[in-house]
Amino acid sequence: MQSFYSIGSATLSKLLVVLVLTFCSVVEAVKYESLDVWVEQLFSRPFYFTNVTLGSQKQNVTVLVDTGSYYLYVEDVQNTGCNDMCKKHGPFDSEHSTTFHNLSLPFNEFNSKGFYGTDDFWLPDGKKISQFRFAVTRNQGEFGNLFGLASRQEDARNIYWATKQAGAADTQGYAFYAGDYTKGIAGKYTIGALDRAKYEGELQVFDHEELKFPFTTLTLADGQVFQMNNTLMLFDTGARAIGTTKEIADPINKALGVDEKGQVPCSWRNLDKSVEFNLGGLNFSVPYSDFFHTNPDGSCSSAFQIGAGNLMGSDISRHLYFAANQETKKVAIAKIRVTDETDMIPFNF
Ligand SMILES: *[C@@H]1O[C@H](CO)[C@@H](O)[C@H](O)[C@H]1NC(C)=O
Ligand SMILES: *[C@@H]1O[C@H](CO)[C@@H](O)[C@H](O)[C@H]1NC(C)=O
Ligand SMILES: *[C@@H]1O[C@H](CO)[C@@H](O)[C@H](O)[C@H]1NC(C)=O
Ligand SMILES: *[C@@H]1O[C@H](CO)[C@@H](O)[C@H](O)[C@H]1NC(C)=O
Ligand SMILES: *[C@@H]1O[C@H](CO)[C@@H](O)[C@H](O)[C@H]1NC(C)=O
Repeated sequence: MQSFYSIGSATLSKLLVVLVLTFCSVVEAVKYESLDVWVEQLFSRPFYFTNVTLGSQKQNVTVLVDTGSYYLYVEDVQNTGCNDMCKKHGPFDSEHSTTFHNLSLPFNEFNSKGFYGTDDFWLPDGKKISQFRFAVTRNQGEFGNLFGLASRQEDARNIYWATKQAGAADTQGYAFYAGDYTKGIAGKYTIGALDRAKYEGELQVFDHEELKFPFTTLTLADGQVFQMNNTLMLFDTGARAIGTTKEIADPINKALGVDEKGQVPCSWRNLDKSVEFNLGGLNFSVPYSDFFHTNPDGSCSSAFQIGAGNLMGSDISRHLYFAANQETKKVAIAKIRVTDETDMIPFNF
């Protein structure tokens, strides 16, 4: 009896320890996946890149992070003309991956042509997404390997959906933290959680399925205010500047003193001035060094460019922390806080 009771209480206390530990991990663990993001110059412009790991041999390829397009595509190793960028970022060798399946569906985006296939996608912490769909391309397009991270209704099985399905994220959503490449500080692309340490104040939340935010006002350095009428702007890390219509861009560029060729003296980039943005009530300033940018030919231009769709490129949006929750169909922004600290929290919008 004595020994029976002592075994019993030891078992009971073990059970208590297990219960307490289980309770703590349920309370504390936020399931997410975080990819390091860094900047490389392409066409003399800064773009964001990350590494992804694909196939049975866990091949690493470097991909351009593009919140403005939809598909992952990687160069095929059999591309005989693999250029410097392709060599640097690594082509994908589908023949040596025993898990690769060619779907034989043609793919063509940004002049990259190839075929869709599926293969295992390895998340940074070693978890696996089985048979993720991506394209393998055979001619080098403008950007080389690219990871389109936008989502749309007709392609619901995107990386956020797949990461949650694989049990590696709590929420089908993501957050982008640019870091600060001008100071050599890397960014993070996080699926499934928010990093509370990396933004200031509270997130401003908007109802929108895509990464679009209302542009309320623009205030120039001399105090002139332009009403932007809450025009929805897509945050596109695959673009620079602000793509908009002639009707919107022309008066702003005129007030800025942009010449008829759309250019400004490059010395303006060094002026200690900034332009104030108000996005749905969130105010932030963009220094002239980001507002005016250098073109591949060495000339300099205003952020306001006439282009397809209303979009805000990474030189503007890098001043913000931004996130999208595909389950609630909401997006959010806050002023970025550049720091090494991390405080992962579940999605709260
Ligand atoms: C990305 O992959 C390349 C090539 O495998 C490697 O040299 C580089 O260190 C990786 N970068 C990060 C941040 O993991
Ligand atoms: C791919 O990258 C991961 C993480 O950086 C690393 O652990 C692994 O060894 C790399 N694999 C290869 C085949 O280089
Ligand atoms: C996939 O199949 C198509 C033909 O349907 C072929 O042309 C292409 O080279 C294949 N891609 C790979 C990566 O094997
Ligand atoms: C906003 O609305 C005003 C008044 O209708 C108009 O003059 C202005 O051009 C609009 N601005 C934009 C950016 O659409
Ligand atoms: C943001 O800027 C606008 C226009 O400059 C101003 O009216 C508003 O009060 C500012 N909001 C905050 C919260 O500072």
